[in-house]
Amino acid sequence: MSSFERMWADLEPVGRDSGSGGYRRYAWTGTDGVLREWFRGEASRRGLEVVPDRAGNLWAWHGDPDADGPGLVLGSHLDSVPDGGAFDGPLGIVSAFAALDRVDRSALSRPVGIACFADEEGARFGIACAGSRLITGALDPDRARSLTDEDGVSLAEAMSAAGHDPAHLGRDEEALARVGTFVELHVEQGRGLVDAGAAVGVADSIWPHGRWRLDLRGRADHAGTTRLADRDDPMLNLAAAVLAARSSAERHGTVATVGKLRVLPNGVNAIPSEVTAWLDARGADADEVRSVVAEVGKAAGTAPVEESWTPSTAFYVALRDRLAETLDAPVLATGAGHDAGILSSAGIETGMLFVRNPTGVSHSPAEHAEPDDCLAGVDALTRVIEALA
Ligand code: GLV
Ligand code: MN
Ligand code: MN
Repeated sequence: MSSFERMWADLEPVGRDSGSGGYRRYAWTGTDGVLREWFRGEASRRGLEVVPDRAGNLWAWHGDPDADGPGLVLGSHLDSVPDGGAFDGPLGIVSAFAALDRVDRSALSRPVGIACFADEEGARFGIACAGSRLITGALDPDRARSLTDEDGVSLAEAMSAAGHDPAHLGRDEEALARVGTFVELHVEQGRGLVDAGAAVGVADSIWPHGRWRLDLRGRADHAGTTRLADRDDPMLNLAAAVLAARSSAERHGTVATVGKLRVLPNGVNAIPSEVTAWLDARGADADEVRSVVAEVGKAAGTAPVEESWTPSTAFYVALRDRLAETLDAPVLATGAGHDAGILSSAGIETGMLFVRNPTGVSHSPAEHAEPDDCLAGVDALTRVIEALA
């Protein structure tokens, strides 16, 4: 069994829901702790030193980036969306370890690190790429500490319970100074590589994207005895908002999704008193995305509350071109967000590789990459290490 296959098999059961077959790997939970321990174990098996940063991201280093850095860093994340697939995140970390296994480490000219970013999906506390946003200063530490999950547990409490002190959250100059170049490998979340007939591609840019909350308020009442004319039902505002998201996105050439709801009291025979909905909107043009959000707010009858916004991110052109030339790989844009985008916006030389996904489906148990394509990704990362370190 190759090291890739062994690692993949070890991760396979962790956080998998037996009903849906999808993964529920949320930041700072027990499952997350198992994944972080797995990462530490793989690092120690290879003699790599694991250095956590102020946000709890883990960095496994070959060599000493403080003395001989900055280094080349590979890696991704291990957390998932609700009922996510096996590949989004873990593929980048497993491939990075497997690539490091293939190179002659004594011949490397600079330190090589493997990063495990904390809370990339924002599934529990709402802010995607929280770990990379915190260390780059893109997320205010006080705001981060006070974010809460569905059960009212704050990020600070969850971090403390998992053994990471939230008092030190904030921009981490030391961690950033160790990173000369970051290359994240990721399963493609679309069909660009299928169309291009290539197993591996290079990222060009990430669309501007954001998350907004719609707070819809009404009046709880009896579903059987309240006349239609007497109702104040926020579910109707939600319905208008969902339909507006679709039609407005079509008109503006963007995408828009309402994928998460909270309904109070959430009873089948009660008119809701409150509906909270989250809108995710993305597109190549930031102004068009903003127009969609405004139109959805108008349809919903409330001003959308912006929870996060990530402007258009272009990866480093010289690195992008070098990766594409070295790997003879096509270049493509994506609508998905990544820690690599956050680091790139913070001024770190950053690039991404994508591995073909035959259906393009992602954030779903059906997400997939063929074993041969995964190995092509490991080959590509191996060549990246050889070329850049
Ligand atoms: C992260 O996967 C995102 O694009 O939401
Ligand atoms: Mn994802
Ligand atoms: Mn991801």
